[in-house]
Amino acid sequence: MPSPITHVLYLRLILLCYPIVVQTGAHSADQVTLTTDPAFTFTTSNTGPATPTVTTDSISSSHGIPHLHLKSKSPHCAHMSRLVDSEDCIGALDGKGPKNILVTGGLGFVGSHLVDSLLQHGHNVTVVDNLSTGNLSNLDHWSSHANLHIIIDDVENRNFHTSLPDLHQIYHLASPASPKHYQSHPIKTIQTNVLGTSNMLDLSKRLDARIVLASTSEVYGSPTEHPQTETYWGNVNPVGPRSCYDEAKRLAEAMALAYENELNISVGIARIFNTYGPRMRPDDGRVVSNFVVQALRGNPMTIYGSGNQTRSFQYVSDLIEGLKKLMASNVTGPINIGNPQEISIHQLSVTIAEILNISSSSVREFYPLPVDDPPRRRPSIGKAKELLDWSPKIKVREGLGATIDYFRKSLHLPNRS
Ligand SMILES: NC(=O)c1ccc[n+]([C@@H]2O[C@H](COP(=O)([O-])OP(=O)(O)OC[C@H]3O[C@@H](n4cnc5c(N)ncnc54)[C@H](O)[C@@H]3O)[C@@H](O)[C@H]2O)c1
Repeated sequence: MPSPITHVLYLRLILLCYPIVVQTGAHSADQVTLTTDPAFTFTTSNTGPATPTVTTDSISSSHGIPHLHLKSKSPHCAHMSRLVDSEDCIGALDGKGPKNILVTGGLGFVGSHLVDSLLQHGHNVTVVDNLSTGNLSNLDHWSSHANLHIIIDDVENRNFHTSLPDLHQIYHLASPASPKHYQSHPIKTIQTNVLGTSNMLDLSKRLDARIVLASTSEVYGSPTEHPQTETYWGNVNPVGPRSCYDEAKRLAEAMALAYENELNISVGIARIFNTYGPRMRPDDGRVVSNFVVQALRGNPMTIYGSGNQTRSFQYVSDLIEGLKKLMASNVTGPINIGNPQEISIHQLSVTIAEILNISSSSVREFYPLPVDDPPRRRPSIGKAKELLDWSPKIKVREGLGATIDYFRKSLHLPNRS
């Protein structure tokens, strides 16, 4: 039997110092709603009473400090996408017994799907997240589950370490991922990936827990080799607008290897390529969410550049399987986790238009390509196939269909197909 972990929400003052504006975009600082899910409300306000109080259902605090109010009603698994995990919900242990697992960034897009999968397999999961780009509604469907423990805190902090059980595994995902978010807070992006990663590696050493680091295909920069193998050193502009993320992730990889070599911890480095699926934020500026939300709203899909640049899009459930296989192995990597099926941005817009049954020629608008935007990205996944027996399964049309369904429902948009 897994030892139950009480589902408690901790509010750390560090969260309150963090620029919540990342989460709230251009909305008023006084009161903002952080979720589009009607089953769940999460609001912040800076006009509250003087003394902080923390309960599972509400969090209040003093001037300048947000009020947080939670209400949850969903049963477990109620919001799960049909493609998120093919296994039956809850109780399907993986045969090796439940583990205590920390997921940093577990309230974000990728992290919340990983938490779903780990809980479904009977593990005890602790999430640490500062809510800068994540959202409590992403795990609302587990809100009363005894094996989930959510700590609202920053990975740079060490205070929350005392709240942790003895961990067997750490998935370190905490970091903004979309260029829009990381470029609007470049210092915090560097600090999260450098100081936060160092903190998590120290934790891994202290608890003797294997750690999987979420790195990125951005370590290849604007690649001059295709497809990108793990031996390619990349072509990164160290002082460009993407460097706060690219270079910080490169340093995070270097740190993980240094800890493994010098302190003998067990590390797995996943170089994640473009991933999409339900729970992406509609406003995160990434191309799939942009196109889908624009098309569903009947607006033109905005293409930056000619549209001939390519990406390789991986559906989120494939990534989760890859991360879990990396964790279950003793592979250090770095190892590419991505879908090698290359598609041009133009073709992506056409495919979305076809799925929605709208005319693609009348719905595209062209804007200049952002600085340092790579013209091509495509992973070589030979290493993942050989060492992890992993390859992606979900075809782009199937994944886009599920993503469109998600945005249609969560944004209450009409069925245009
Ligand atoms: N989604 C992709 O296409 C992609 C591609 C490559 C790499 N990655 C990596 O995967 C990880 C997850 O990406 P995602 O798409 O889910 O992004 P996301 O922004 O949806 O999730 C990141 C989560 O980390 C949290 N976070 C950020 N900084 C933190 C901090 N200092 N302390 C605690 N929590 C913090 C955020 O609140 C959020 O919940 C990131 O490390 C990202 O670099 C993602």
